Amino acid sequence: MLRVISIAIFWMCLSSTAYSQGNQSPKSSIGATVYQQYCMSCHQADGGGVPRMTPSLISTSYVTGDKKRLITILLQGLNEPIVVNDEEYYNPMASFSFLTDQQIAAVLSYIRTNFGNKSTAVSAQEVLQLRKQLSSKK
Ligand code: HEC
Repeated sequence: MLRVISIAIFWMCLSSTAYSQGNQSPKSSIGATVYQQYCMSCHQADGGGVPRMTPSLISTSYVTGDKKRLITILLQGLNEPIVVNDEEYYNPMASFSFLTDQQIAAVLSYIRTNFGNKSTAVSAQEVLQLRKQLSSKK
């Protein structure tokens, strides 16, 4: 019985990834893949986060607002009390500077245009520029 259930769950996971990837352009599927691999465990599949643990990515000013601030969060991590949807969060988020400019641009474009967000994309060039600026400040 357990085996049947686990096979069913496996099948569901498999078909849902195939479904979501089949429906996206190649570029946004890089973003989706990076999201699933590096962000989803904390921010959840629907971007909703976990109350009192991980803030939501749905229409927050961090996600939809200033691109530089958003890119900086990925390049340097975030470790300060922040308020999202009237709830305070203060758990550290590690830096993702090990990702390539392309991957960071793709995942940020992905979160800015999914979960009901309708912002503009982020380019690899913008990530590269900020990476240079931040490293020259150190
Ligand atoms: C280990 C859990 C964890 C992972 C993995 C993680 N985050 Fe976060 N994220 C957090 C926490 C906790 C905060 C709040 C940090 C603070 O309060 O200083 C946060 C804050 C944020 C914020 C700003 C606040 C908001 O909700 O708008 C953004 C944007 C964000 N994360 C994006 C990402 C992206 C993109 C990834 C994947 C590349 C990612 N995070 C991976 C835990 C995580």
